[in-house]
Amino acid sequence: MAFPQSFMDELVARSDIVDVVSSYVQLNRKGSNLFGLCPFHSEKTGSFSVSPDKQIYHCFGCKKGGGVINFMMEIENLSFPDAVRALAKRAGMEVPEEEGDREASRRRQRLLDLNRDAARFYYQLLQQPEGRAVQEYLDRRRIKKTTAVNFGMGASLDSWDTLLLAMTKKGYTKADLLTAGLAVQNKNGGLYDKFRNRLMLPVIDTRGDVVGFGSRALDSQTEPKYLNTAETPLYSKRRVLYGLNLAKKTKRPNIILCEGNLDIVTLHQAGFDNAVASMGTALTVEQTRLLSRFTKELVLCYDNDNAGKIATERALQILNGSEFSVKVLQLPRRLVDGEYVKQDPDDYIKNLGADAFERLLTGSENGVEFRMAQVAGKYDLANDEHRVAYCEEISELLASLPGAVEREVYTVRAAEKASISPDAMKLEVQRAFKRRMAQEKRAETRKNLNPTRALQPKESALRYENMRSARAEEGVLRLLLMDDSLFPTQPPLTREDFSSPLLGQVFAALWQAKTEGRRIALASLSGLLSSEEMSHITAVCQQPESVQNGRQALADYIRIIRTEAEKRSGGDNADPLLAVIEKNRSKKGNGGKQ
Ligand code: UTP
Ligand code: MN
Repeated sequence: MAFPQSFMDELVARSDIVDVVSSYVQLNRKGSNLFGLCPFHSEKTGSFSVSPDKQIYHCFGCKKGGGVINFMMEIENLSFPDAVRALAKRAGMEVPEEEGDREASRRRQRLLDLNRDAARFYYQLLQQPEGRAVQEYLDRRRIKKTTAVNFGMGASLDSWDTLLLAMTKKGYTKADLLTAGLAVQNKNGGLYDKFRNRLMLPVIDTRGDVVGFGSRALDSQTEPKYLNTAETPLYSKRRVLYGLNLAKKTKRPNIILCEGNLDIVTLHQAGFDNAVASMGTALTVEQTRLLSRFTKELVLCYDNDNAGKIATERALQILNGSEFSVKVLQLPRRLVDGEYVKQDPDDYIKNLGADAFERLLTGSENGVEFRMAQVAGKYDLANDEHRVAYCEEISELLASLPGAVEREVYTVRAAEKASISPDAMKLEVQRAFKRRMAQEKRAETRKNLNPTRALQPKESALRYENMRSARAEEGVLRLLLMDDSLFPTQPPLTREDFSSPLLGQVFAALWQAKTEGRRIALASLSGLLSSEEMSHITAVCQQPESVQNGRQALADYIRIIRTEAEKRSGGDNADPLLAVIEKNRSKKGNGGKQ
């Protein structure tokens, strides 16, 4: 991971944070900083700031922050060396590669190659006589040839080692096949193909790389129906969306989220090329981050059964207060033999056609309407007792809506639903709203009454042992970053004087840059600190500090730090005799308890 320092300095100098961030986030200037919508959490008002002077970013909402390298790591989901490589490419610099790094990227490339070769192999099998069973399955599901090609579909055969043999012949090792999740090991150590006698659905990421596979059994008896790649260095189900490689190119204004892989296929075939599915997981924050690069409007189209409703509610919670506008498309149930059964998008389009789906899409309700209907569904509104309970529950929901207009509109609608006067409903909502505000205020007061807690770093692993000293230590770092001419030539503090190991480490690193005549910048610490540590340090440096009385402030800080450090070492080795007595006392204490 150790790139030469001179290279790193030049890289950071050539990668202006405003330029880099601007290619992902729209920034507007406010004073000396720039602001925009945070790409790392969902929000409607911009709390994401970039400081051109300090070359750092910081989000006041989710507290993420750091230098230009951290930004690349976070936004592109890259490791430190990969973020460095990406920035170097951008700046047109050649990377002096370490042997270890080259090895890691070679390994990754090898897995990508293997996945691609496997996908090609499955694809070719589908075109050949051996692939007939799968081809027949596609016909039964009315999947056209062009659609199958578009999705790169393939066939795995009813055999234990077809892929294994083909790929080892191409030069891949057994370890490669295991790591890629394409082969499985039995008790005796022998390998066999993981995917057998299945329709193969390659999962392709937005860069166009095959990162894994989904697959479907060809009949209704085989278990499991869907079998996907397990977690591998390339594939994590939390981070992929099936079909996004195609949906990212859509001309439609939104993206439709569904449950099933083959729903996506049918939707694309019917002209809804904006559909994606998460594979065997509820919507995750990582997936919303991925989606936000391509759209700001989502349509949730989960199944109209209990599991689907829970999935919808969970997704709405994740998306609540985000920059996405969200709609819910509920597929009506269908009457079959006197019983209502759910239809998924695949069933629906096959039964009623693409136009019918298009109408549902246009008419789909927003998230509030969906949640209101859920509440209404729980009560029998012809029954007075139920109506009262409905009003109570619905007013809680209405009170949680952020906008006053939104609250008003839906309050009237809820009143209509329960056949009570809008005024009575408004009163109820106002009451719930006031309760909510009071609760929030109490929570806020509680937080403020406990300042130590409010000032602590977010990550518990970074907690300060000595708050008084840590405050002063933070001040020293801020001053050093703002104006190092305030400092004497010799370091006024040693790393050990710091009560917080992290702040001490940062001080030592910055001081070293100073002695070597390099630029003293936070961004150059990226390789040294974890992203949590970096976020914390960035937040520390965002706090106000005045350079005007910098000299006096520095002297005060140093005095506090030294006093506290002396107290600490005093406890350890002030008087050897006292120390022994102290030790015995604690031993006795233990003995007494036993
Ligand atoms: P469903 O069982 O609802 O299937 O699973 P579906 O998409 O309607 O499938 P068809 O129409 O019978 O082919 C929804 C999704 O849940 C995941 C798959 O991603 C599937 O598309 N799943 C389901 C699994 O991962 N494993 C399973 O065994 C079943
Ligand atoms: Mn289905």
